[in-house]
Amino acid sequence: MRQSTVNRASAGLGKLIATAKEYVWPAFGRDSTFFDLPVSIVSAGEGNYVIDCYGNRLLETNSCGAAASLGFNHPALLAAMKEQMDKITMTTPNLFAPTEPVVWLSEKLAQISPGSLKYTIYSSNGSDANETAMKVARHYWKILGKATKYKVIHRYPGDYHGMSMSTASASGHIFRRTPFEPLMAGFVAIHSPNCYRCPYNLTYPGCDLLCAEELGKVIEFEDPSTVACFITESTNTGLGIVPPPPGYMKRVREICDQYEILLVCDEVITGFARSGFWFECEKQGIVPDMLALGKNLSWGCGALAGTHVKSEVAEVFTGKNTLQHGYTFGGTGYLAAAGVAGIEYVEKHNLLARATEIGKIMAKKLGALKEKSAVIGDVRADAGLIAVELVKDKKTKELFADRAAVAGVVGKVGRENGVLFACSTWYGDILWMMVSLTMTNDELAMIVNAVDKAAAAVEKQFT
Ligand SMILES: Cc1ncc(COP(=O)(O)O)c(C=O)c1O
Repeated sequence: MRQSTVNRASAGLGKLIATAKEYVWPAFGRDSTFFDLPVSIVSAGEGNYVIDCYGNRLLETNSCGAAASLGFNHPALLAAMKEQMDKITMTTPNLFAPTEPVVWLSEKLAQISPGSLKYTIYSSNGSDANETAMKVARHYWKILGKATKYKVIHRYPGDYHGMSMSTASASGHIFRRTPFEPLMAGFVAIHSPNCYRCPYNLTYPGCDLLCAEELGKVIEFEDPSTVACFITESTNTGLGIVPPPPGYMKRVREICDQYEILLVCDEVITGFARSGFWFECEKQGIVPDMLALGKNLSWGCGALAGTHVKSEVAEVFTGKNTLQHGYTFGGTGYLAAAGVAGIEYVEKHNLLARATEIGKIMAKKLGALKEKSAVIGDVRADAGLIAVELVKDKKTKELFADRAAVAGVVGKVGRENGVLFACSTWYGDILWMMVSLTMTNDELAMIVNAVDKAAAAVEKQFT
C-alpha cells in the first residue's frame, strides 16, 4: 500500500479521475471507463440538482433510486442530523440500546402505517430489511409449531429485493441471479403482473387476475404447509415501474390468508409518500404482515432500514423465542432523527397530496408526448412513480436491438437539456423517474421537455 502524498483539496480533476480509475470498483459491473463519462463522480448536491466533478449542474429525475425524496441536502434533515450527531454519532452505544430518535421514529412509523403494523426492527439497507422479514417469517412459524413452513414465494421478472444471497434468491432480476448460483434453496417464483406486456397475453379485466391466482396455484403445488411467506413489491419498480392491475394486491392478501402465509411487502422504493400515500399497501387497500423499508427511512441521508412488523406477529417473539437477529448499525440515531424530521416535513407541507399531483401533471404531459411520439410505447405515471417506456415499434412493442445505445442517447440529450435521466435497459429502454417530492412545476416541465427531446433523438437515430 502506497502512502498518499496528495493534498486532496487542491488535487486537479485529472488526478481525481485517475485515482478513481485506479482504486474504485464502482457498483454494477462498471469498469474504469465509467470514469470517462459525464456524471461519474459527484461533487455536490443542491436541492434536487447534482453537481458533478466536471461542474455540470443537473436536475436529478430518479432521486438516486428513489432514496432521496426530499432532495440532496434538505435543511430540515441536515439540522436534525447535526443536533443528534452533536450528542452522539454512534448507533448502538450500550449493547444495542436504541438512541432517542430511534424511539420517536418507531412511534411515528406505527402511527403512519396501516392496521396493526407496529414494531420496527432496524438494519442498514433494504436488503437487510427484506432478509430480516424472511427470517422473522421462518422463525414465526417455528414458534407456532409449524416448522415445516420455510419456503419463500416471490415474483419474476423484476421485483428486486436486494443483494444478499437470500434477497438475490427472492429477486426476479435474472441477470443478478445466474452469476451467483447456486442460490438458496426454498425459493419459488411466480410471474409478476405486467399489463403492458402480460406474461399470459391477456387483458385486464378479462384476465380475471390470473397473475394473482397463480400465487394460489403455486402454493397448492408446493404444499401450503411448507410455505412461510410471499414477498412482493406492489408496483414492480425493478421491472420498470409496473403497477399491479386493480384488485391484484387484495386478491394476494386473500390468498395468503387462505393458506396461512405471511405477506411481506417490500416498500423500500414505494414507501414514504412516493405513491401519494405513506405506504403503497394502503393505496392498494391491504395490510401486509411486514413492510420492508429503507432509502427514505432516513430520506436518503444514510444507511437506515427497517422491517416493520404487525403486532400479532411480533408479540409471539418472547422469552426463549426472542429473535436472534440484529446489526451493529441497526438504527443509527442521527439517521433516525432525519427520518422523523422528513416525516414531519412531509406532513407540514402536505407532500402526500403533492405526490399525487405530480403524478397527475406528469401523466397528462407525458401522455401527450406519447400520442405524438413514434417511440414512446407506454407512460406509467402515478404519484412519484413515473416511467416512460421506449420501443422500436409501438404496435408490436418491439424492443430496440441495442438498448444500451438508446439509453446512451437518452442520457446525452437529457444532460444537454439540464436533466439527469436514469434509463434502465434491463427489460427495455425505460426512463425510471422517481422525482423528488419537492420538485416545482417548472422543474417538472424541464423534465418533460428533455423527455420530448430525447424521444425525438431516439426516433431519428434508431427507427
Ligand atoms: C424494491 C427494493 N427493495 C430492496 C432494495 C435493496 O435496498 P438496498 O440497496 O438498500 O440494499 C432496493 C434497492 O434498490 C429496492 O429497490
